[in-house]
Amino acid sequence: MELLVQSNEAAFEAIVEGIVRQGYAVADGFLPPQETRIMLEEAGRLFSQGQFNAAGIGKGGMHQVNREIRRDQVRWLDHTNPPEPFRPFFRQLDDLARYFNRTCYLGIRDMELHLAVYPEGAFYKRHLDVFRHTRARKITVVFYLNFDWDESLGGQLRLYLPREDGSEAALDLGPIAGRLVCFDSHAIEHEVLPARRERYSITGWLKDEPSLF
Ligand code: OGA
Ligand code: MN
Repeated sequence: MELLVQSNEAAFEAIVEGIVRQGYAVADGFLPPQETRIMLEEAGRLFSQGQFNAAGIGKGGMHQVNREIRRDQVRWLDHTNPPEPFRPFFRQLDDLARYFNRTCYLGIRDMELHLAVYPEGAFYKRHLDVFRHTRARKITVVFYLNFDWDESLGGQLRLYLPREDGSEAALDLGPIAGRLVCFDSHAIEHEVLPARRERYSITGWLKDEPSLF
């Protein structure tokens, strides 16, 4: 298995480089298609059973649902004991977190993740992933599960990248199966453009302290 481990390391190194140099990274083929498809099937099954909830904004007592800001539905996953179909992904993410700690001393000690479905027409307006009263989120990770997705279906993740001269650039990334996008949760504002087909993903945050609630 030496080869596999080495190619993982190369992928992890490219992610770390991207984050350090530009605040974000895109890794296609973070998981093989078979494993990604199994996750999609399980996510679809859970969604059709009504096991998702309208996503909110804010945390704890500040939590509220606002359909003008976001219209996705989420289901939180326990990263210490994920359902079987998600285990290869969680193992890979654990390895990535360890790699971050080893190479850039990020001090990742916890993570939180949810499945997300954007029903047709759903979006998430421009925002930052950190809350005012808890700043534990360090790195946002989004892994996409959508096969046969093309530009006409919308649903791109749009990153707003600050330029040195104070202006900003927008980068649109399609939510295509096997793609992992990582970015600095404190620095990168972003939004999800309206999706014209049901759009599945896992979104998570690598954190430097455990959640209190
Ligand atoms: C989020 C988010 C991006 C995406 O859930 O906070 O910004 O592409 N998701 O799903
Ligand atoms: Mn976000």
